Amino acid sequence: MDKIKKRLSFILNHKPVTVEVEPDTLLLDLLRETLGLTGTKRGCGEGECGACTVIINNEAVNACLYPAWKVENCRVLTVEGLGTEENPHPLQEAFLEAGAVQCGFCTPGMLMSSYALLQKTANPAESEVKEAISGNLCRCTGYVKIIEAIRKAAQKMNDPSISKRKEV
Ligand code: FES
Ligand code: FES
Repeated sequence: MDKIKKRLSFILNHKPVTVEVEPDTLLLDLLRETLGLTGTKRGCGEGECGACTVIINNEAVNACLYPAWKVENCRVLTVEGLGTEENPHPLQEAFLEAGAVQCGFCTPGMLMSSYALLQKTANPAESEVKEAISGNLCRCTGYVKIIEAIRKAAQKMNDPSISKRKEV
């Protein structure tokens, strides 16, 4: 028997969307399979690696464990909504400048966890940065350049004149 679908409306990357989901649809599947937003990565699928991190109402969550129906009326931000190649977010600029992107698999999740941090803490200490990305695994970089990038992004966000970003 077909499962009963539920109509779900929320704000995705600054725009309203309405979709139909099954009761057990996970947010990661909704984003990647139904909505085609494949920037959010599927790593472990068990809440252990952080590759699937997105922001819901300013909080970083693991989309691989999050029931899609729970985002009703919420604001969801994925890496696609953070910035573009032409107009990158200061975090994206800083990750590239610091050499914090190697294979890139962890990068979307790292960006979203650090975005959540910088929304709450404009000038995070190294310990706060480490805590914010403690749920995000990176197999390539050894984390040093990632931490450097996040702190550099904080500087850019506090002084927009050193960022290339155009406010839209
Ligand atoms: S894919 Fe979600 S935490 Fe690993
Ligand atoms: S850059 Fe490869 S996993 Fe982090």
